[in-house]
Amino acid sequence: MSNFNYPNFPVSRLRRLRKTSALRDMFRETHLTRSDFIYPLFVAEGENYKRKISSMPNVFQLSVDNVLRECEELLTFGLGAVLLFGIPDFKDETGSSGYHAEGIVQKAAREIKKNFPEMLVVTDVCLCEYTSHGHCGVVENESVQNDATLELLAKQALTHAQSGADIIAPSDMMDGRVGAIRKILDENNFAETPIMAYAAKYSSAFYGPFREAAESAPQFGDRKSYQMDFRNSDEAIREIALDIQEGADIIMVKPALAYLDVIRRAKDNFSMPIAAYNVSGEYSMIKAAAEKNWIDGEKVMMETLTAIKRAGADVIITYFAKDAIKLI
Ligand code: PBG
Repeated sequence: MSNFNYPNFPVSRLRRLRKTSALRDMFRETHLTRSDFIYPLFVAEGENYKRKISSMPNVFQLSVDNVLRECEELLTFGLGAVLLFGIPDFKDETGSSGYHAEGIVQKAAREIKKNFPEMLVVTDVCLCEYTSHGHCGVVENESVQNDATLELLAKQALTHAQSGADIIAPSDMMDGRVGAIRKILDENNFAETPIMAYAAKYSSAFYGPFREAAESAPQFGDRKSYQMDFRNSDEAIREIALDIQEGADIIMVKPALAYLDVIRRAKDNFSMPIAAYNVSGEYSMIKAAAEKNWIDGEKVMMETLTAIKRAGADVIITYFAKDAIKLI
């Protein structure tokens, strides 16, 4: 394309196709559609429980019965995919409530699939929501143990699949976890359950509000020894290549907005479905500025989501899904 010689001004006038909204709509390059979105839900124990997340307007922790009410509403908007995070009552050193058959995500997945079989259920696989120390793996001598963690993640993934999860999404960033999960799923008759790997997941300050929502802040240290360094982009390509080799069906870049370059590189380098996670901090910043009337919240939201799609994302995981779908 770049070796084509365009005619110069005044023959060439790019403003011609911008003249009316009909022309602009006809020649737009990027379309957002309902099936682009996955909506995250925080599932808590209890009944008729609904707790506000102070740093995330309109986002709640919900008990399973309220999750079902929410799913019913989402489907009426044409929003047909959710990502489940668990808020267990009980946490321990190894995050055992995360891989229990009666765990909160397992219960929620079963109930959603029973009541709304058409709802696509994606489950987040990680230990941080279930461990007393808040790290994404088993901790020994204040360090997260990679290989010992794999077995627990695999167990968690299997119980999610057994509970009806349609897609398994590991977000822990241990080396080898996609392979370990693929293996256990294949050995247990879940060869057809896809894995959406948080492949290029950066250690990011944009996760701040999520840690309030999921009650998953690390009790000591940070996640820099397993999540990626935001100064790197070649390394993201290596992470993604490894996850594909280990059996990932969809690869994810996270966060989205400060990483649009990584989304584009991922799309150009691998002919794979790409998911982008428009994370909590990206959501809360727009909501906060809109509340102050410093920006037009809806317009900035649509511009942001379109930019993520334009960068190369096929699916967007976003707390804006409900708001955005009403404008499509
Ligand atoms: C769990 C996990 C996190 C997010 C998704 N899965 C938090 C973290 O790694 O600390 C962040 C999502 C968001 O900020 O919206 N490992």
